[in-house]
Amino acid sequence: MKVSLSILTVDYAKVEESLKPLLDGIDYVHMDVMDGVFVPNISFGYSFIKSLRKITDKPFDTHLMIEDPIKYIKQFAEAGSQYITIHVEAKSDVLETIKLIKSYGVGAGISIKPNTTVEEIKEYLPLVDMVLVMSVEPGFGGQKFMHSAIDKVKLLKELKEENNYSYLINIDGGINGDTAKYISEYVDMAVSGSYVVNAVNPVENLNVLKNI
Ligand code: DX5
Ligand code: ZN
Repeated sequence: MKVSLSILTVDYAKVEESLKPLLDGIDYVHMDVMDGVFVPNISFGYSFIKSLRKITDKPFDTHLMIEDPIKYIKQFAEAGSQYITIHVEAKSDVLETIKLIKSYGVGAGISIKPNTTVEEIKEYLPLVDMVLVMSVEPGFGGQKFMHSAIDKVKLLKELKEENNYSYLINIDGGINGDTAKYISEYVDMAVSGSYVVNAVNPVENLNVLKNI
């Protein structure tokens, strides 16, 4: 399974140290951006992401949990994101924001919270490069995987195959050596944070995921 590593729960003073041993094994670095409005937590912004560009060439999978993402797409694109994912539940016009992301040559992603159905993003599926299914309520790392996400990634895979869509299927929240087994046959990649970065042996846990 391809792994997008969320650095949300690392000690930011030691981010380079924490990332270094994992860089060979991961496929993307997942950047969780939170504004304290769309979610009840604040994390980091584009300046931090831009700085991390200096320590790795790995593609950045940027997840915007912010209320009005369209205002900041330019900065996140210029900070070096390969994909920028917005939430359908956010306040910006979704179509306009997707178009804007693509105008920077960046892949556009759409994400759904646990209470949002795949039906609600159907119209965007032909247009996006990634669909990110939340398997926890966005806001914090280290939460428990919600099984309701399994049917969503399954449905997204069916729709992708039926219609020849090109989006990557990604899942985010509570992914570990056990929960990854429920979704690995449906997703192209999975986000994992605390299971890897807060482990006693991060490389060992990353390898568990890689081998699923
Ligand atoms: C939650 C974030 C996730 C989270 C994943 O709002 O979007 O990316 O950091 O962390 P774990 O793997 O600990 O659930
Ligand atoms: Zn995330």
